[in-house]
Amino acid sequence: MQDHSQTERRKTEHIKICMEEQVTSSVTTGLESYRFLHAALPEINFSQISLQTGFINKMVRTPFLISSMTGGTTYAKEINEKLAEAAEIRGWVMALGSMRAAIEKEELVTTFQIRKKAPTVPVIANLGAVQLNNGYGIDECKRIVDMVEADALVLHLNSMQEVFQAEGDTNFHQLITKIAQVCKASDVPVGVKEVGFGFDSASASKLIEAGVSFIDVAGAGGTSWIEVEKHRNKNKRIWDAAEAFLDWGIPTATSILEVRKVSTDLLLIGSGGIRTGVEAAKAIALGADFVGFGRSLLQAATSSVEEVLQEMERIEFECKSVMFGIGASDLQALKTTERLFKKE
Ligand SMILES: Cc1cc2nc3c(=O)[nH]c(=O)nc-3n(C[C@H](O)[C@H](O)[C@H](O)COP(=O)(O)O)c2cc1C
Repeated sequence: MQDHSQTERRKTEHIKICMEEQVTSSVTTGLESYRFLHAALPEINFSQISLQTGFINKMVRTPFLISSMTGGTTYAKEINEKLAEAAEIRGWVMALGSMRAAIEKEELVTTFQIRKKAPTVPVIANLGAVQLNNGYGIDECKRIVDMVEADALVLHLNSMQEVFQAEGDTNFHQLITKIAQVCKASDVPVGVKEVGFGFDSASASKLIEAGVSFIDVAGAGGTSWIEVEKHRNKNKRIWDAAEAFLDWGIPTATSILEVRKVSTDLLLIGSGGIRTGVEAAKAIALGADFVGFGRSLLQAATSSVEEVLQEMERIEFECKSVMFGIGASDLQALKTTERLFKKE
């Protein structure tokens, strides 16, 4: 097992690199290939458009989620608190970053404890699935859920990040059995997410069979965690290899369609490279129930709650404007619209 100071250092470096370096994948989300067909006569009242929906067992005002990002350091605590406060004000779901640091070092728990700032919105605890092959099990999963009073747990699948990380854990052998055990024994719903390389239908199918309650595709087109780890690694072989993997991954749009091929009713989060409410609306029209925003909120989250709120309001306005433009007054109408088409 790694010592906690290494985990803390890694968390700080991740934030810094994501803010300062070019870490965007060379693949695009695929959402740019789609357009909405404008309806000149929408026949709805803009002021009555509703983004309200349900996440697991709670109603929320928007179908948006702050993707898992951070925790484990003082700086990360400040980021989490700003994101949580904004999530509560706007009615967004709040996902926390990997909580391994809080298991390794009890004092770091407070860097994830944002319930006071976000008392009503759904909060998701997070752990790397590979840790289930590294001495962690259902007890650790339950502990992190309890630590933050989470409504759900998400296990992240980050094989390519681990392989490019100097200290990475790369034994993913038979993880599916352990994921199934966690799903069975957990008191809260358990989901899985990628970190920016997406899902195909075969992987999604296995995970659904294992009992996951939701999948967050975290597809390619946004942050590339091969690029992020490259910047933490001085090794020339890693730098050269990262270049060769610039276009790795399943784009976000494709990932959403792939998961929907194998399940029409699984709670599906579309994420990976999403920056605008127009892209979010496209993800929903393709089959996502929720849309996650990661690095695109990071800059604001290091600044102030007001800046996060501005970003959220912009995204909500853009999504509602799409809905107005196609005459969809609620999310059900957006999900079932026939006004999304693929460009020639
Ligand atoms: C600074 C930062 C830290 C992250 N840490 C985690 C993490 O601890 N656990 C996790 O599952 N994903 C983590 N991610 C990945 C995001 O949740 C997301 O899946 C990925 O960045 C792709 O989305 P994006 O293109 O919107 O950034 C992190 C992302 C960022 C930007």
